[in-house]
Amino acid sequence: MTEDIDGNAVAADIRESLAEGIETLEAEGVTPGLATVLMSDDPASETYVSMKQRDCEEVGINGIHVEIDPDAPAEELYDTIDDLNADPEVHGILVQMPVPDHVDDRQVLRSIDPIKDVDGFHPENVGRLVAGNDRYRPCTPHGVQKLLEAYDIETEGADAVIVGRSNIVGKPLANLLLQKAPDGNATVTVCHSRTDDLEAKCRNADILVAAAGMPEFIDAEMVGEGATVIDVGINRVDADTEKGYELVGDVDYDSAKQQADYITPVPGGVGPMTRAMLLYNTVKAAGLQEDVDVELP
Ligand code: GUN
Repeated sequence: MTEDIDGNAVAADIRESLAEGIETLEAEGVTPGLATVLMSDDPASETYVSMKQRDCEEVGINGIHVEIDPDAPAEELYDTIDDLNADPEVHGILVQMPVPDHVDDRQVLRSIDPIKDVDGFHPENVGRLVAGNDRYRPCTPHGVQKLLEAYDIETEGADAVIVGRSNIVGKPLANLLLQKAPDGNATVTVCHSRTDDLEAKCRNADILVAAAGMPEFIDAEMVGEGATVIDVGINRVDADTEKGYELVGDVDYDSAKQQADYITPVPGGVGPMTRAMLLYNTVKAAGLQEDVDVELP
């Protein structure tokens, strides 16, 4: 029997625990603040950012949203980041990626004060994570770890295969699963577009993570019997729906389900966890910056 991994339920539990942390902060006169910055007119990015702001409102985080015209000079974004770095009410800053081509995304990530970098993308935070001394775990990889933990899926000694080598998911998740820690200790293989015999490598996985941005490309042929399949993909594909599209993952769910013991659906798997872990990092950031001891889930 295959079991669906319910990201909505695990995310709800995390949000509930975070509410206690927020109460602790409030008792010390601190309201955690998260600034989101959008310099894009991509509809998917607009949706993600508005969902993040809605999440903030629901849990009692002060959400601040800044929109910058995608045609504006890059300096406008850098100046905005400088202002947010200096604002004591802002504990976390998230610049929604991707930014327009004329903006240097590396400079954007370097400009965010590392203590406010709730994405965990600043080089200092990337370095800390690789060295096993993480401060902010990137939200999607951390959410994947929390899903595995919630379903008692052992990473220790497991063969984990990650398809996709992005800085946002593949690389940080590989590093986290590799750490000498109870939620790590896996043997990690990272596959990508140039990987030889991808099918065989995927079939060997105890834990298979699809994070390549390719709609429904993982099917039963690529899943070993009894594997856990984690689908990080959120792809908009044309469909005969009211919106003209539907969201599908990187995994062909119906096919992969024939082989897997555990599988995440799309939507309702990893997506809600990414959002919950952003709130987690924001509460952590407020605790660190205000010197308040906050218990985190
Ligand atoms: N674009 C896609 N995923 C992410 C993310 O986790 N953080 C930011 N800042 N932008 C993204």
